[in-house]
Amino acid sequence: MNELDSLVESAAQLFAQANTPAELENAKAQFLGKAGRVTELMKGMAQLSVEEKKSRGAAINVAKQAIEAELTARRQALADAELQAQLKAEALDVSLPGRQRGQGGLHPVSLTLERIERIFGSMGFDVAEGPEIETDWFNFTALNTPEDHPARSMHDTFYVEGGTATAPNLLRTHTSPMQIRHAVQHVKKHRATLDAGQAMPEIRVIAPGRTYRVDSDATHSPMFHQCEGLWIGENVSFKDLKVIFTDFCRTFFESDDLVLRFRPSFFPFTEPSAEIDIQFQTGPLAGRWLEVAGSGQVHPNVVRNMGLDPEKYIGFAFGMGPDRLTMLRYGVNDLRLFFDGDIRFLSQFQ
Ligand code: PHE
Repeated sequence: MNELDSLVESAAQLFAQANTPAELENAKAQFLGKAGRVTELMKGMAQLSVEEKKSRGAAINVAKQAIEAELTARRQALADAELQAQLKAEALDVSLPGRQRGQGGLHPVSLTLERIERIFGSMGFDVAEGPEIETDWFNFTALNTPEDHPARSMHDTFYVEGGTATAPNLLRTHTSPMQIRHAVQHVKKHRATLDAGQAMPEIRVIAPGRTYRVDSDATHSPMFHQCEGLWIGENVSFKDLKVIFTDFCRTFFESDDLVLRFRPSFFPFTEPSAEIDIQFQTGPLAGRWLEVAGSGQVHPNVVRNMGLDPEKYIGFAFGMGPDRLTMLRYGVNDLRLFFDGDIRFLSQFQ
């Protein structure tokens, strides 16, 4: 191999070792720069004759072009490698599954509450909401349950010190305080009508919401739901309660194969009082009596606390358990499942 060929070869080797454009430019300078090897060879021709210059110059030029070609090729290779590296770094794996946006839905008990509201709404009932932190007055005393009444012990709850008639001090044990709260508002709204001795529009309301008791097992949770119902007018009777509650249950369970039983019971705020039991005639629960609500004719003392004359106004109230209704409707046997927050359980109701 002659001197020029080995020069081209060593340039090619050096270029190949350059791994960045900057290294490559340094390597280039060693051959093609002002003080580079090719320039030196050119300078070395000064002593040669014209003939020798011609052939030597041509040979050097060939070598120079070969070195330039090597340089261009290496530049291109480095640029390609850089592009490949960039593409690799920024690559998207289009085969990865996308991020899913889960479909949300209502809690089964919320579905039941919606259903209750819709059914009673169709029967002309308003929906009222009230505070979960109550006063002694609304939760007990106004409901004909004075401080020393034994019925209070069945409603043990979470108390804080220092409650007064206006300062709330307990978590409500039922939605019945809404009977008083709503009726008082209603009476206030129709004060002028009442004062003029005219008939007040009937009170027809349901009040769903959360309630609390010191209770916890498969069918009791310290937090549970109730839905109160109240219907007060001048001419409302137990018969109306039977009719609307039967209608409600049949609509709620989408079954006419269902009978109701009013079982005598006791509540301080109703007289007479009854537990409402239902029985399915077909299906997995057929033949069993299932308690779904407490009810009764509103006690005269309670009517008085509403600001109405018990000689003139009469009505009934009921309190049902939406959690229980949800269990019956879907065939769930442990109430606690509703409040564990396990998405595998809850998603089945969507
Ligand atoms: N508040 C009663 C309870 O929680 C239920 C009830 C409501 C009974 C209205 C009669 C009338 O047990």
